[in-house]
Amino acid sequence: MAQALLITIKKLLMTLQINSLEDYQKAYQSSVENPSEFWDNIAENFLWRKKWTQTLAYDWSVPETKWFLEGKLNITENCLDRHLASKGDQTAIIWEPNDPNDAAQHITYRQLHSKVCAFANVLKNNKVVKGDRVCIYMPMVAELSVAVLACARIGAIHSVVFAGFSSRALAARINDAECKVLLTADGGFRGDKVTPLKDIADEALKTCPSIKKSIVFQRTKQTIAWTSDRDLWWHEELTKVDDSCPAEVMDSEDILFILYTSGSTGKPKGMVHTCGGYMLYAAYSFLNVFQYKPNDIYWCTADIGWITGHSYIVYGPLATGATTVMFEGVPSYPDYGRFWEVCEKHKVTQFYTAPTAIRALAKHPLSFVTDHDLSSLRILGTVGEPINEEAWHWYDDNIGKNKCPIVDTWWQTETGGMMISSLAGVTQDKPTFATLPLPGIQPVLLDADGAEITDIKAEGILAIKQPWPSLARTIYGDNERYKNVYFSAYPNYYFPGDGALRDALGNYRITGRVDDVVIVSGHNLGTAPIENAINEHDNIVESAVVGFPHDIKGNALYAYVITYDGVIQTDELITEIRNLVAKTIGAIAKPDKVQFVKGLPKTRSGKIMRRILRKIASGNAGDLGDTSTLLNPEIIDDLQKGFDKN
Ligand code: WT7
Repeated sequence: MAQALLITIKKLLMTLQINSLEDYQKAYQSSVENPSEFWDNIAENFLWRKKWTQTLAYDWSVPETKWFLEGKLNITENCLDRHLASKGDQTAIIWEPNDPNDAAQHITYRQLHSKVCAFANVLKNNKVVKGDRVCIYMPMVAELSVAVLACARIGAIHSVVFAGFSSRALAARINDAECKVLLTADGGFRGDKVTPLKDIADEALKTCPSIKKSIVFQRTKQTIAWTSDRDLWWHEELTKVDDSCPAEVMDSEDILFILYTSGSTGKPKGMVHTCGGYMLYAAYSFLNVFQYKPNDIYWCTADIGWITGHSYIVYGPLATGATTVMFEGVPSYPDYGRFWEVCEKHKVTQFYTAPTAIRALAKHPLSFVTDHDLSSLRILGTVGEPINEEAWHWYDDNIGKNKCPIVDTWWQTETGGMMISSLAGVTQDKPTFATLPLPGIQPVLLDADGAEITDIKAEGILAIKQPWPSLARTIYGDNERYKNVYFSAYPNYYFPGDGALRDALGNYRITGRVDDVVIVSGHNLGTAPIENAINEHDNIVESAVVGFPHDIKGNALYAYVITYDGVIQTDELITEIRNLVAKTIGAIAKPDKVQFVKGLPKTRSGKIMRRILRKIASGNAGDLGDTSTLLNPEIIDDLQKGFDKN
């Protein structure tokens, strides 16, 4: 143990970071030819209480995957304890509040260690033991990271639910995992809004019999109701404990957390991630994709309620001893320059955000960007959906000033970590392409019959051929559904549900969900490329294309289009849009109908809820189904009113 603690971040960087294209090619090749040796070498850079006896065992027909069998560890010793000797006084987390006039917090590794151990003791005092599920429904305060790590410290399984979800969505998730304790807050600040989290949680808990205690962090100081035999104040609980808490020794395959992701239908899927493989891959991918160097200040703008926040705000950065920024607010508050103000203030070197945020910010005057000094930025990243050419260039020109590599990182809640992405400045980026797989990841393209396409330049269904350490092991409580969704359509492959094309150099471009394909007059049309074509028009901000039933063609296309402020929405513009699609893709892809809209119905992770658009386009707006996970439900009225019947 003492020996292992001597592994410093320097050693980690030297041994795990790929620094040249040649190194990448070598690492990739060895990961394919000799996966056990490849992953063993990586795993040896971490702190284990007991070494594993076997690197990998899997059977995708069960399906079951195991990594680092019989290895014992605790992820928080890797994220905290082992950094104390070499960088205890280095900042682990910079917390930036919603209101720019409030002070940021700089939390050192030593302070974070102390906070995590103390809160772990609070959990223990409230009878939380290894294997118990703890639901975390909190705003983006630093204590959210503390809560996550405190669970991991004692082997409790955290299930973070994004603090924008409704009481019904929260209750469904708590009940699915039968959580014992809820960690929440009185309220949360986001822009000029205050979310009454405790009220929402109280409503949810009316139908959650498994919850014994609710521990409430005080953030907004708003008036809240109190259930005295259940509710506890976070700060009062902390007065009862000290900050010494030995880490629970976990098996590599013990569950670290559950995180829910929406399925195409039905109830959310509780994706299960385990300790050893997840830790390793989050750290390895973070270090290589973002090329993190000592003293860098890395900022991922995601919420910890999503996998991006789990892997690339908390676990990946901390496991590598990085400094990670946590932002409580929103990009539009107090104005559209907030992201850039925060980059300037903390001298951010790596900035990682979503295309939807980039497009939203690109709509506003450039002075919101140019008012700030962005010279500290070295690397930019995107995640969550395909980035269209126009947004990519806006990001490159105006934020990166054409000097920062852009990593377009394709991955999923299920994959735990980034799968296809350039390594910043090491492998070449290419607009709208996620580019190459990380070492250890073997993507293939399948044709409609499930056969591997051997041509390099090709388009098809994306699948992954071999397991990697951070693959979600199952859906909590439903291995059958796990099998059906990910391993049944194409036996012996992991099927992510996306389509992709590959250029002659082997670069992958994600073309969108394969379930967003529309067959028009017998032609397979992906809606994503049609949207990209429409978005190329100078007057268009964003668009969404769906299919609707058509007497002759089977399906026809319906385009919902957002224009820039001040653009006059004429029939000529509709003609131009249709012609642009015809020019870019072919006449077959011309939308039959074009409706100008103020916004698109989006989930909180920025994905367009196409189900709703399909219903409206097909004239069935009466029953839109469950819209509780929409970020902007107010948009529906506008969509329905503008429906093009003709
Ligand atoms: C789906 C996964 C990964 C964390 C955030 C979303 C789409 C994700 C990209 C990208 C094109 C992307 C895919 C994927 N997606 N990243 N760089 N380029 N598409 O996680 O909610 O689990 O969604 O997001 O369709 O399957 P998620």
